[in-house]
Amino acid sequence: MSILIKGGTVVSATGAVAADVLVDGEAIAAVAAPGTLSVVDEVIDATGKYVLPGGIDVHTHMEMPFGGTFAADTFETGTVAAAFGGTTTIVDFAVQAKGTSLLGTLDKWHEKADGNCAIDYGFHMIVSDVNDTTLKEMDACIANGVTSFKMFMAYPGVFYATDGEILLAMQQAARNGSTIMMHAENGIAIDQLVAQAIGRGDTAPLYHGLTRPPELEGEATSRAIQLAKVTGAPLYIVHLSAAQALAAVTEARDAGQNVFAETCPQYLFLTLEDLARPEFEGAKYVCSPPLRPAEHGAALWRGLRTNDLSVVSTDHCPFCFKGQKELGIGDFAKIPNGMPGVEHRMDLLHQGVLRGEITVTRWVEIASTTPARMFGLYPRKGVIAAGSDADIVIYDPAAIQTLSAATHHMNVDYSAYEGWEITGRVDVTLSRGRVVVSGGVLHGSPGHGKFLPRDLNQYLV
Ligand code: URP
Ligand code: ZN
Ligand code: ZN
Repeated sequence: MSILIKGGTVVSATGAVAADVLVDGEAIAAVAAPGTLSVVDEVIDATGKYVLPGGIDVHTHMEMPFGGTFAADTFETGTVAAAFGGTTTIVDFAVQAKGTSLLGTLDKWHEKADGNCAIDYGFHMIVSDVNDTTLKEMDACIANGVTSFKMFMAYPGVFYATDGEILLAMQQAARNGSTIMMHAENGIAIDQLVAQAIGRGDTAPLYHGLTRPPELEGEATSRAIQLAKVTGAPLYIVHLSAAQALAAVTEARDAGQNVFAETCPQYLFLTLEDLARPEFEGAKYVCSPPLRPAEHGAALWRGLRTNDLSVVSTDHCPFCFKGQKELGIGDFAKIPNGMPGVEHRMDLLHQGVLRGEITVTRWVEIASTTPARMFGLYPRKGVIAAGSDADIVIYDPAAIQTLSAATHHMNVDYSAYEGWEITGRVDVTLSRGRVVVSGGVLHGSPGHGKFLPRDLNQYLV
């Protein structure tokens, strides 16, 4: 099956040009001047539209066990929602439970995902139990295409790792070339603030934000950077939300250290005020790190422009308001942490383009090309070029849409952006040459997505 996408503007990390794209089977066969390609089975008219490499969301949590419940999107519902929003690859987190093996965990996550994804997918591994066996298993994970490991300085008693354990895992990563992804918040200090707040009777969702101050994200980020420096491990700070943490990353990058960071749309578009919404509505916005006062968002946009922030992922970890977020009525510490977002990352970042925060090429770079390089998927993914997978999004930059739980495809009963009218919308999503979404209709199927064994971080020299 061959498809010609004609008349559009092909956007890459380096430019935007009028060009036609020929898809042959699962791959891109050619990118050429308008009108120069022919002989095809199907033509898609992209006049007036952007032709983008499919979005790559390197931070999702489908079906994640967390906070006494499970994230509400399955691999099926979450990847379908991703496709509607122009994301054609996710990298999700396999979660090692304490006392279990990394390879056993990987098998379990394959059981959940294989045959159920509408788009291609890979895994990172969450390491919550550091010991001689699991350190060796990190090498085996890499051999199985899982080349990045997330650790937590937050959540004592759950995923938390001590500085000593982090040091050991980083030493292993320095030896095997993998990347350590860090949830950088000082969980030990935060737990004291949380206990004090609950003791005072300050139990509303807002106190989730007030007990996780930005200084404690900045402190943990600096500590992770120093541990990475001592060990020589590549470090990627996940879901960075605070100006203090960004300053630490900037300093390390200026000094030439292999330190990278991502932020997420919720930290760019939402604020601490959302956590203060009445009637327990603030619970919809509980995630960690928490939403911050607006000035942090301004710093994050700046960081995206200067490349001190290299990636925007979603940290998609949806919990329904009814029955899940409600677990924390009367005690904010029991609200499952996480927000839905996999469907709207491309659209929200497009608002950043329209507002002049980033250019259209930077949009593609932070949402597709850099994630592909950072997590060993380039040039199979992240670029429209001959030989690459035909993961392509035809995006209408002038369409108007209203975000709502009534119309989104994520399996969650609220939208964090309910009623927002935004400009731009996915018209067509192709995954490996197959039209999976067109004109708001699903054509794909859950079994289409393939597991992606990944190479090491391609930014390392
Ligand atoms: O609140 C969040 N971020 N939930 C998902 C788990 C994590 O820490 O990434
Ligand atoms: Zn995290
Ligand atoms: Zn996460």
